[in-house]
Amino acid sequence: MRCRLSVVIGVFLLLPLLQLTSHGEEPNESNKRREFMEAKLVDSQAILESLTREDFRAMAKHAQSLSLLTLEEGWQVLQTEEYLQQSRGFRRSADTLRKAAEDENLQAATLAFVELTIKCIDCHRYIRGNQREAAR
Ligand code: HEC
Repeated sequence: MRCRLSVVIGVFLLLPLLQLTSHGEEPNESNKRREFMEAKLVDSQAILESLTREDFRAMAKHAQSLSLLTLEEGWQVLQTEEYLQQSRGFRRSADTLRKAAEDENLQAATLAFVELTIKCIDCHRYIRGNQREAAR
């Protein structure tokens, strides 16, 4: 009985320690964010493939997936007006792309994909500039 009690007490003493260590694991958080962000790459590569195959179903599906990603909590990395605008523009292109895919309009879908891709690069350039500012 005594022995079991000390085990229970020991576990209770250890718990906060465990929590402390798992809290301090920054890399875990940023890994999660990276995974979330890399979903964009997977979707956009799938869209490129669907464009070349004229697979409008896959095109619509991945465009919608991109649009929905922008509404997730994990997307809101910066709280600046510029970031919000970039996000909105990106979502608009994804929605245009999805609509074009639903209409089976390959020309319009291709154009929307190019616009979308430019917005990936624009936002990333903005983020990098912002990080440089912050590092100063
Ligand atoms: C509105 C802004 C915005 C747009 C648009 C955007 N991203 Fe990102 N992306 C981010 C942010 C913020 C991060 C996280 C950067 C960090 O953690 O330092 C990120 C991270 C990433 C990463 C992970 C990079 C790494 O270092 O691990 C990839 C891959 C990526 N984005 C791909 C894309 C692709 C592909 C698109 C277009 C389909 C896109 N992004 C559009 C803001 C954006």
